[in-house]
Amino acid sequence: MTTVTLIPGDGIGPEVSEATKRVVDSLGAGIEWEEHTAGAGAIESHGDPLPDHVLESIRRNKVAIKGPVTTPVGTGFRSINVALRQELDLFASVRPCHLFPGVPSRFEGIDIVVVRENTEDLYEGIEFEMGSPELEKLRGYIKYMHNFPIRADAGVSVKPISVGATKAITEFAFEYAKRHRRRKVTLGHKANIMKHSDGVWLASGQEMASQYRDVGFEEMQVDEMAMWLAWHPQDLDVVVLPNLYGDIISDLCAGLIGGLGVAPGMNIGKDYAVFEPTHGSAPDIAGQNIANPIAMILSAGLMLRHLNLDAAADNLEGAVAAVLAEGKVRPPDLKPYGEPAKTSEVADAIIGQLSTG
Ligand code: NAI
Repeated sequence: MTTVTLIPGDGIGPEVSEATKRVVDSLGAGIEWEEHTAGAGAIESHGDPLPDHVLESIRRNKVAIKGPVTTPVGTGFRSINVALRQELDLFASVRPCHLFPGVPSRFEGIDIVVVRENTEDLYEGIEFEMGSPELEKLRGYIKYMHNFPIRADAGVSVKPISVGATKAITEFAFEYAKRHRRRKVTLGHKANIMKHSDGVWLASGQEMASQYRDVGFEEMQVDEMAMWLAWHPQDLDVVVLPNLYGDIISDLCAGLIGGLGVAPGMNIGKDYAVFEPTHGSAPDIAGQNIANPIAMILSAGLMLRHLNLDAAADNLEGAVAAVLAEGKVRPPDLKPYGEPAKTSEVADAIIGQLSTG
């Protein structure tokens, strides 16, 4: 048996988690769940959105799968997702964007993996509030040192990009490409404009690429990448990006393959891995049994592969592919021709397609 920490999350989280659990249990792959609450529910029960025992469970099991957790805007606790990434040093976010036959899309044959750096860039939280004494000091310093006037009505976010973090994520991307027999790695940047942050990213990425001559490599400005994705997305394969560009481009890629309802993901560190769908808690459709569970079910497939349970992962992905190709059972977000299927009915259909041999 392999024990995995399960955080169902909130909003549509419990619905898609239940569907995922049923599919994985039906595989008979020997997965045992250790279920924990995080987010607003954990504040009620334990006075902490991410209680220590949840982190301890992940540290013990090394692998977790989670549903989405609502982050309050402006006030309240900080994002559970950001906290997990920091606490467990999950430096790589990986989002495979594979277009399954039968899913409505403007394109065909899309198979892109977005690898996003998870720990620095504008996401590091070094921010200066408009009009604050700290920003006044910074404005004075920048005017004095660089003769550059920052407007008094501006707020400022700082963008650090280090050699170490860039080498770690680009090495991860090349190793991923080798292990999964991918054609090439494309490194996205804007080093022509941000010479000292994206400049470090580009130079460190190029250096890492020189150690992987057996994997194709190209560098591309991120605006050009956006153009290719809208025009000829089949040209891209594994894409490696700093935090902010990675966030935007991975949602763009989710849009190319049928939307958030079918976009799985994982956050990987040296010691731990947390699997989760790309989507959020979707409060607009929560509690109605209409959310698409496929993104979380496919995230469980990635988890099984990570645990070297390839036969179970193949079985799960094959069953999802069969349901999507057949097109009879479709949740509302995949534009069904007839009556849309409930979350639980999508899970039933996938279970019905699993091979039992
Ligand atoms: P969202 O992804 O929850 O929803 C965006 C749109 O996509 C909505 O129209 C929603 O109904 C739809 N949608 C999302 N997942 C779907 C699914 N499985 N099936 C069918 N339709 C689906 O993004 P939003 O509204 O920006 O965020 C809501 C909350 O989720 C926020 O508190 C946010 O912070 C949190 N969030 C949590 C994440 C996580 O835990 N990993 C990731 C992203 C957002």
